[in-house]
Amino acid sequence: MAELRVDPLRGEDEGILLLGLERPSARNAFGRQLLQEFEAALSDLGSGSKMRVVVLHSLVPGVFCAGADLKERAGMDPGEAEAFVGRLRSAFTALERLPMPTIAAVEDAALGGGHELALACDLRVAGESAVLGLPETGLAIIPGAGGTQRLPRLVGRAVAKEWIFTARRLGAAEAHARGLVNRVASRGEALWTALGLAREILPQGPVALRAAKRAVDRGLDLALDAGLALEQECYGEVLPTRDRLEGLAAFREKRRPVYTGD
Ligand code: COA
Repeated sequence: MAELRVDPLRGEDEGILLLGLERPSARNAFGRQLLQEFEAALSDLGSGSKMRVVVLHSLVPGVFCAGADLKERAGMDPGEAEAFVGRLRSAFTALERLPMPTIAAVEDAALGGGHELALACDLRVAGESAVLGLPETGLAIIPGAGGTQRLPRLVGRAVAKEWIFTARRLGAAEAHARGLVNRVASRGEALWTALGLAREILPQGPVALRAAKRAVDRGLDLALDAGLALEQECYGEVLPTRDRLEGLAAFREKRRPVYTGD
């Protein structure tokens, strides 16, 4: 049975893709099969994809994702464990580098790799009962799928260290207060709130969204001058588009623009 559901929405929501984790027996933990399905879904979402926003969520009540599959891990020797974690890290980096905006809708537990999965998305929405944490040091390992790198970039070095050193589990309110999640939704409403955000993003120029994402993500790793040069380069991508002319025409004609991504 498939462990990842890929649902492109239709009608007014066309352009939004839902990726739903569905591995109830292991609380959506990433084992070999789920990872393989996840990698395949990401490879369909490269620059040729028409999707404008991707929303990641769980189809299993009570959990977003329990991280890496610890039962499968118990049967791996250190070399196999290293290779698996390396693949998971690469998959989450591929998620982060998808050209279009991504949103994680986190309901209940997002632990270890589950938290790292959410960290690799552009935006995060948490249900009121969400619990986010990197419990790895409690298992005598470290976060290995980007957690030690992405968490401090989001919340700062000292806060990230405290949470990693103490294997702390955070509630939605604290995660929001620290800037880890963009919005808190009522319990059970994280997906709807994430969809609401996706619908706000959907009408914007698709080429512009991708260029803006690249400018922010890559720019943050650069010194300011190099970042501004990157912004100029990304601006160069939107200048020749038909959508840019459509935006100007719609402004002149006092109507809503209709963007095609051309
Ligand atoms: N890997 C493999 N199986 C896992 C798992 C994981 N990461 N997390 C949960 N499961 C399995 C449990 O072993 C259990 O299987 P069983 O029915 O054969 O005993 C089943 O999923 C249900 O787990 P349970 O703990 O009873 O569910 P819960 O809803 O009460 O709690 C969690 C959900 C996610 C809070 C809890 O399972 C948990 O803390 N998991 C470990 C998370 C973790 O430390 N991840 C870091 C990995 S580095």
